Amino acid sequence: MSFPKDFLWGGAVAANQCEGAYLTGGKGLSIQDVMPKGVLGPVTDEPTEDNLKLIGIDFYHRYKEDIKLFAEMGFKVFRMSIAWSRIYPNGDDAAPNEEGLRFYDDVFDELRKYGIEPLVTLSHYEIPLHLSRKVDGWRSRACIQYFADYCKTVLLRYKDKVKYWITFNEINTTVHSGLLGGGMLTPKKDLTKSDLYQAAHHQLVASALVTKIAREINPEFQFGCMVASAPRYPMTCNPADVMHAFEDQQEVTYFVHIHTKGEYPYYAERIFKKYKVELDITEEDRELLKHTVDFISLSYYNSRTVAKDESSYQQASGNISRGLVNPYVTYSEWNYPIDPLGLRYILKYYYDKFELPLFVAENGLGAIDAPKRDSQGNLVIEDPYRIEFFNNHLVEVERAIEDGVQVFGYTAWGCIDLISAASAEMKKRYGFIYVDRDEEGNGTLERYRKQSFYWYKQVIESNGQSLNREGLK
Ligand code: BG6
Repeated sequence: MSFPKDFLWGGAVAANQCEGAYLTGGKGLSIQDVMPKGVLGPVTDEPTEDNLKLIGIDFYHRYKEDIKLFAEMGFKVFRMSIAWSRIYPNGDDAAPNEEGLRFYDDVFDELRKYGIEPLVTLSHYEIPLHLSRKVDGWRSRACIQYFADYCKTVLLRYKDKVKYWITFNEINTTVHSGLLGGGMLTPKKDLTKSDLYQAAHHQLVASALVTKIAREINPEFQFGCMVASAPRYPMTCNPADVMHAFEDQQEVTYFVHIHTKGEYPYYAERIFKKYKVELDITEEDRELLKHTVDFISLSYYNSRTVAKDESSYQQASGNISRGLVNPYVTYSEWNYPIDPLGLRYILKYYYDKFELPLFVAENGLGAIDAPKRDSQGNLVIEDPYRIEFFNNHLVEVERAIEDGVQVFGYTAWGCIDLISAASAEMKKRYGFIYVDRDEEGNGTLERYRKQSFYWYKQVIESNGQSLNREGLK
């Protein structure tokens, strides 16, 4: 048996993509409430009706039903995030919002009722809108203290209910999208690489500060970083392409290095030179950064193929990270490369370098599902493509474990259908559970088990033994 017996099987969501109830229970506006089309569209002045996230999948009111379904699948862990603006509606309020705190108490209690371990992301692509307007989000150093205050409140409140924490979701996104990663309202074209790297630096310091505070609150807490991890492949064996891929990879590994070694890597200087970045790093920052994490978590959707000169190659798409079309892999409906082996590659790569426990915090396939009615009129959702995706990726996780890599958990992304992040779509579904809501926002919001629901249940029940090691096609 390759998966350890206490392997944490489960699923993952983020508050802004599933909770809805965007102004209920004293919640303030978050940056996501004015991003109706994700990173693709404009930021609106006020929340607009076309923003599917305002209702999401109404997890806020339906969490009991959802958690029951997760328990039926046998989840051992559920990765979720706390909406900062539910706790501090404006981000700089003098006192937290008790109703918001109570909501998460209830969610954690419900999870515990079924023996499901919560894994909580403190910041998953959102920030109170007021802070984005007041200080341009993470561009400002002031955010470090606002974030630390919010985190201290929740760490104290949930110190006996939550053991596993992640500070920032996909922290490396900030240097590519100031809006999504750093809550910055300044348009992309007006942001320099210095601005973006400075904002990421503020987050790295904030992450370390929160880790420090957390250890004082409960030494048993387990803290992780989270990095969007598309391994870089060279397009050819031309040494120039190989070196290019190597250096491109360093731009991602940089974030893991700082979180785990407590200092900037040697190659940071080269990156700063390349992008003309000048960072304001204080002595106090350097001291704080020494508070490192216990584990590395990652999202893996696809690999990324790169070349020194990309002009003659065709571009593919990809989650966050776009690369060149790789003729050796297949492609999803959103044109993301599907590359299960890339997951084993990145797990081994991180373990080689850092030898810290790894957690696959996100992996999944966004696809269009076509529900049908059976002869009794029940809604049936057959999704063999999703089963194939998960089977083939989980087999690679298992192979990494067999090879000695310490992977202690796996949470399938969007275990229940939710609103996608990059383009804020409903039709791009990731779940084992189907939610009746369409692209226009219509639907009953009722939940239905997909074919993959029963498949994943069996995988968890057998601790991975039911996986097809030949690979599904
Ligand atoms: C990750 C994010 O990048 O990818 C999630 O952490 C997101 O929030 C997921 O939903 C899938 O991307 P998308 O854009 O298809 O929802």
